[in-house]
Amino acid sequence: MGIKGRIKVAEALKKNSFGEKVILKGWVRTRRGNKNVGFVALNDGSCASNIQIVLDMAKFNDEELKPVTTGACIGVEGTLAQSMGSGQSVEIQADKIEIYGTADPNTYPLQKKGHTLEFLRSIAYLRPRTNTFGSVFRIRHNMAIAIHKFFHEKGFYYFHTPLITASDCEGAGQMFQVTTLNLYDLKKNENGSIDYSHDFFGKQTSLTVSGQLEGELGALALGEIYTFGPTFRAENSNTPRHLSEFWMIEPEMAFYDIEDNMDLAEEFIKYCVQWALDNCREDLEFLCKMYDNELIGRLESVLDKKFIRLTYTDGMKILEEAKAAGHKFEFPVGWGMDLQSEHERYLVEEHFKCPVILTDYPKEIKSFYMKQNDDGKTVRAMDVLFPKIGEIIGGSEREADYEKLKQRAAEMHVPEKDIWWYLDTRRWGSAPHSGFGLGFERLLLFVTGMANIRDVIPFPRTPNNAEF
Ligand code: 4AD
Ligand code: MG
Repeated sequence: MGIKGRIKVAEALKKNSFGEKVILKGWVRTRRGNKNVGFVALNDGSCASNIQIVLDMAKFNDEELKPVTTGACIGVEGTLAQSMGSGQSVEIQADKIEIYGTADPNTYPLQKKGHTLEFLRSIAYLRPRTNTFGSVFRIRHNMAIAIHKFFHEKGFYYFHTPLITASDCEGAGQMFQVTTLNLYDLKKNENGSIDYSHDFFGKQTSLTVSGQLEGELGALALGEIYTFGPTFRAENSNTPRHLSEFWMIEPEMAFYDIEDNMDLAEEFIKYCVQWALDNCREDLEFLCKMYDNELIGRLESVLDKKFIRLTYTDGMKILEEAKAAGHKFEFPVGWGMDLQSEHERYLVEEHFKCPVILTDYPKEIKSFYMKQNDDGKTVRAMDVLFPKIGEIIGGSEREADYEKLKQRAAEMHVPEKDIWWYLDTRRWGSAPHSGFGLGFERLLLFVTGMANIRDVIPFPRTPNNAEF
């Protein structure tokens, strides 16, 4: 590599030291021009904007510039100049061009014409080079930073929970198995079941569906913790809101009741949205212009409203009334039923026109670890429901009573041999505590305005798709 060093496009575009010698490196988005002058739009991923490189054709020979085509990677040494063209204030008058990687126009799939998001998914290994995905992934990074900053500043500890586990936190049986057993030669016991004593961990193990149970162990010692890591669910739901591998943020707090839990969830989401507005303006404006012109307005609208809080029972009443008044739901409504995304969105988008926190769900449709209410029917659960998304957060106050927790686990067929260590926390120094899980990609759907969850994670994992 001949030209050493570089500044980034984002930095160059902020400069006004015209006449300064600079070096930029990046990928060619477009090239146009004539016999006398050429223009290259260069992008290096540092911001949504390209920088314009001006080629005085008298300084270069045609052969040398031939490989400077869409997609090629180049280095440019030149002079920072004030741009006379519209649309930019700074450009680079090139003295020297270096070519690192060519991109044959006959084979490179990302020529300048617009592509559908669906097509781009099929070339997910290249799509970060598009404007759209550049913006989405810069926002994704910024939101991850916001999350750590929020919790760190509140005195929460980032607590790392295992990805390989022998317990099913949500009890929904949607786990991917982890094994080194030879699947072509499986040893079975006399009763026909698989003998896991010969497996790597000496027992049946899976990828985690949630770090919560271990997170609770952290909270009951460190006070306030959060996890932020990959989570795996083998649910066969091909929807725009489900991934088989997603990232979840799970705070867990000693001495929080459900009210404190809701307050934290609301403050947390608002902080993240505000962060995006303050730190991702250029990318948000791009997405707003290209996909969803209500995006920025929608982000601003959740900041100044207090989220509506109501019980599942009251929420269900509203849905039943809507149905009676003629609203068509695809799925049935009625006390005891789980809410589908259409029901959640009805409450948020049509009835309240505001994010909603729904609490006190029937115990049958929630997990064994949730604190039981005195009515014997409901648990102290809370789901935060958002416009366009439906459920963005699920959480609860936890059952802190050893006997009640043990009994509920048994009723819900969670094997004691898998969670004895979790139950033990309620035998020694149990404390009231609460927590929740925010799906990172669901938050990103909201913040970016993208419609499909596959478009907010670099390499989506969904049923029948593990390419790249
Ligand atoms: O409601 P869920 O299943 O709750 C838990 O896992 C609890 N252990 C959380 C806790 O209390 N610590 O999942 C929490 C959130 C959902 O609200 C949703 O945002 C997201 O995780 N989520 C998914 N996101 C993408 N794809 C999937 N398949 C998801 N399943 C859940
Ligand atoms: Mg949930």
